[in-house]
Amino acid sequence: MDSFLIRGGVPLHGEVAISGSKNAALPIMAAALLTDEPCVIRRVPDLSDTRFMAKILESLGATATFEDGTVSIHAKKVRGYADYELVRKMRGSICIAGPLLARLHKARVSLPGGCIIGARPINLHLKGFASLGAKIKIENGYVDASAKKLVGNSVFLGGRAGPTVLGTANVMMAATLSEGITVIESAACEPEVVDLAKFLNAMGAQISGAGSPTVTVTGVEKLHGAEHEVIPDRIEAATFLVAAGATNGEVTLKGARAEHLRAVADKLNEAGVAVERSGPDLIARRKGKLNASDITTLPYAGFPTDVQAQMMSLLTLAPGISIITERIFESRFMHVSELARLGADIEIEGPSAIVKGGKPLSGAPVMASDLRASAALVIAGLAAKGATQVNRIYHLDRGYEQMDIKLKKLGARIERGAGD
Ligand code: EPZ
Repeated sequence: MDSFLIRGGVPLHGEVAISGSKNAALPIMAAALLTDEPCVIRRVPDLSDTRFMAKILESLGATATFEDGTVSIHAKKVRGYADYELVRKMRGSICIAGPLLARLHKARVSLPGGCIIGARPINLHLKGFASLGAKIKIENGYVDASAKKLVGNSVFLGGRAGPTVLGTANVMMAATLSEGITVIESAACEPEVVDLAKFLNAMGAQISGAGSPTVTVTGVEKLHGAEHEVIPDRIEAATFLVAAGATNGEVTLKGARAEHLRAVADKLNEAGVAVERSGPDLIARRKGKLNASDITTLPYAGFPTDVQAQMMSLLTLAPGISIITERIFESRFMHVSELARLGADIEIEGPSAIVKGGKPLSGAPVMASDLRASAALVIAGLAAKGATQVNRIYHLDRGYEQMDIKLKKLGARIERGAGD
């Protein structure tokens, strides 16, 4: 299994091009199942997750080809069954359920099961499908959803931690081919949901209100093929902004969307890292010494849970007490014990981590546990004195395109190699 060997202490300098968004590309690729005509999706990041989604689409009978960041999908004929061996490897694959139910009026998809950051149930997805008239049966680890016809309805999709991103995506896709009007209340407002709605409307759907808590879908008879360019990855962009601050460097992001990063830029500014626009680009640099800062993760447009770990790495370097509260996922502090191996002083109290910052970090071998935790360990390794080996970076490759190559271009001393 691959690992990164990082020799830290080098301020990052230069430009980095931000890739397309993983979390927008996955539901958009699944949406191609809604039509029997070809779809072309550009700026799809080349990641193990997007490659995996293409494999799942092929297992359903579609063709899906990758070429230079463009994915061509043709779901001429599809079957409504996705097995456990495929779905268990990537939770995001649950977003094939809505398109299959809409197109075939039946979908048999394995329950994704929990993951290391939380239980992650799909009860809200199923509540949405049932509100459109689908019969839901859970048996032998599979969800069977079926309906003679789907009929538009109003549904409230707010849950324990607020809205659900992929739940909103799934119900929105199922509603596109339903009879009548569907109103999704407490919908997720993430830019990835807006980008999906834009693609669906390009296919002939009638969706309004995406990006607000109330999304309205007027069902149509049929959808056609379409072309789309995926939005830039705001989580990858945030990761590089944090890395610039943690290494006391100066990094220019090419292709990021500033309007998607306001909560992150605000907290970085508070912590002593300036994030400024320069024409279409974003530049991050330290303003002087780092400051302790409190963070609470929230649904969009609040501070994203997918940047919590990276921000924790930065705040271990800021003198004083920072309190980081995770409100979205129950167990998203797996990186804490690994950061402690680099000398960080962090205590967990219920949903919060209390970071006593300011002590310099020193390199050590560490183990990645999930996608964003691995990004946090890379940032800590870049800031630490000496060598850090980050093991199990297959987690990182799921969501970051060529991270080591991009960091090397910014002056980082990082090598990909065989790990534990
Ligand atoms: C999406 O996951 C992202 N994944 C996650 O990014 C991200 O962390 C998350 O949204 C929140 O922003 C993709 O887009 C592929 P949710 P999703 O449903 O849609 C609870 C990354 O690092 N919930 O919005 O699966 C759930 O348990 C990944 O790129 C229910 O209770 O997340 C959680 O506590 C990690 N019932 C909260 O809602 C449901 O039916 C938010 O989850 C659905 C969710």
